[in-house]
Amino acid sequence: MRFDIFTLFPEIFAGVFDESILKRARAANLIDIALHDIRDYAIGKHHVTDDYPYAGGGGMVMKPEPIFAAVESILGAPPQVPVILLTPQGRVFDQKIAYELAQHPHIALICGHYEGVDERVREHLTTDEISIGDYVLTGGEIPAMILVDAVARLIPGVLGDPAAPRKDSHASGLLEGPHYTRPPEFRGWKAPDILLSGNHAQIDKWRRQESLRRTFERRPDLLDTADLSDEDREFIESLKQQPF
Ligand code: ADE
Repeated sequence: MRFDIFTLFPEIFAGVFDESILKRARAANLIDIALHDIRDYAIGKHHVTDDYPYAGGGGMVMKPEPIFAAVESILGAPPQVPVILLTPQGRVFDQKIAYELAQHPHIALICGHYEGVDERVREHLTTDEISIGDYVLTGGEIPAMILVDAVARLIPGVLGDPAAPRKDSHASGLLEGPHYTRPPEFRGWKAPDILLSGNHAQIDKWRRQESLRRTFERRPDLLDTADLSDEDREFIESLKQQPF
């Protein structure tokens, strides 16, 4: 999958895409991330990319011309791939949107800055707007990193265990239960015996119940839309009877 990222600050991305899983995925050509400096597409001696808002209002607005020039010179006009603007006004990113985006072989991301981007970019260049949450950051770069990380790990081959994304918190609409590794006892705190028992049917049942318990305790709202069996529902009912 290819990601074209349009930004005024390409240096911010160094490190994030050059370490660990994303580094390996790039080396294996499973993902291809290209950074484009919008300033390179601004005309004039000073390569101006922002300007005062018409009719005042404070802050600066990103000019449309360099953004259109950057995106169209890389992707053609009009671009044939989703062009996503990162903005706190977009639809709120979640695991479902990550899966949706991972279906595309190629997407483009535009990182907004300052007070925002000229409305004509939103109206005539972008095909989607995404927010990473209901808070305001200084720009769209960190949101773009988060989106790329969440989407890239869903690409087959990027994670060591091909089943891993299906087991994630949120993938099934539930939070994952607890994880343990060696040693079996640490400072007197024991890993649950069941996990060391080798009884896979019992372990699967325990994992499912701990996932339901954790979701019930921390994110009961997720239970309204999760895919639950009759047995799951019975277990949740039993949790409701227990004192916290
Ligand atoms: N730019 C600034 N804040 C943002 C947010 N919450 N999501 C996406 N882009 C942003």
